[in-house]
Amino acid sequence: MLTINWTTWLLGIAALVGSNGVCGLVHSGSSAKNGDSFQNALDDTTRSGPYFDKWASKNVTALLGKTTYLTCRVKNLGNKTMTLQVSWVRHRDVHLLTIGRYTYTSDQRFRAIHQVHSDDWLLQIKYPQHRDSGIYECQVSTTPHMSHFVHLNVVEPTTEIVGGPDHYIDRGSTINLTCIVLHSPEPPAYIFWDHNDAIISYDSTRGDVSVVTEKGDSTTSSLLVQQAKPSDSGRYTCNPSNAQPKSITVHVLNGEYPAAMQHGGQAKQPRLYSLLLCLCLLLY
Ligand SMILES: *[C@@H]1O[C@H](CO)[C@@H](O)[C@H](O)[C@H]1NC(C)=O
Ligand SMILES: *[C@@H]1O[C@H](CO)[C@@H](O)[C@H](O)[C@H]1NC(C)=O
Ligand SMILES: *[C@@H]1O[C@H](CO)[C@@H](O)[C@H](O)[C@H]1NC(C)=O
Repeated sequence: MLTINWTTWLLGIAALVGSNGVCGLVHSGSSAKNGDSFQNALDDTTRSGPYFDKWASKNVTALLGKTTYLTCRVKNLGNKTMTLQVSWVRHRDVHLLTIGRYTYTSDQRFRAIHQVHSDDWLLQIKYPQHRDSGIYECQVSTTPHMSHFVHLNVVEPTTEIVGGPDHYIDRGSTINLTCIVLHSPEPPAYIFWDHNDAIISYDSTRGDVSVVTEKGDSTTSSLLVQQAKPSDSGRYTCNPSNAQPKSITVHVLNGEYPAAMQHGGQAKQPRLYSLLLCLCLLLY
């Protein structure tokens, strides 16, 4: 809290230095404190001081390592821009990151961005890491100062293949491998499938190969190989553009379950098959 007060003091000084004799600290931000996104839509002229456009200054989900921007939109800052400063403070350690267009922190991953005549005061974060997740405070140097909090969540997309790591299927049936990309703030631009480290091309001589992709909060890609042959066995890898690859091993069973059992490294399912086989034999 001490540091926050210090920040306010610093901003106050900055405000006075930039004020050119005009007192810009008269209006308090009280109207903005009660404001919400609906009120923000109201006519600017009904407000006496600056206020946050909370709809435009939203929580952010960032991709690990990919440059991200936190937005603080302050309306009605008017021509007081010279006197009122907009700053970004990291809450975790109450670290002052930016003041106006000036980047204050020595961490070079952070940068203040503001275009003249714009209401937006951006905090650019390069190479975001998990430890950057948390609360960031956008402050306007009114007296008392106004604050808006933005939560940054740094995520790493994960890849899963349904039913891995081994998939057993009878010759002649359809191989259906489904890959799911989770925690991806934006859908992957593409998802490639490899078979034994060679990209599967859908117009190949193999034919009967198709991919169904559904983009959304999580993106799924289903690889369908009709009329499975023993040569379709092997390692299939799902390669999303923005996440780690994931593999599954497909065993196309030729009706010779005991043989498949001998080859299968993971004996779980072959054992089940042989159990079923035994049961069938018993029934006969
Ligand atoms: C931002 O995230 C925090 C924590 O998850 C949540 O409490 C808050 O309501 C969110 N704010 C908005 C505007 O969504
Ligand atoms: C700046 O603000 C003052 C007081 O609100 C106003 O009288 C003046 O016209 C404004 N100037 C500009 C250029 O908007
Ligand atoms: C493939 O499997 C997925 C997940 O189990 C399922 O949602 C999808 O409908 C299947 N596709 C076909 C063509 O069977």
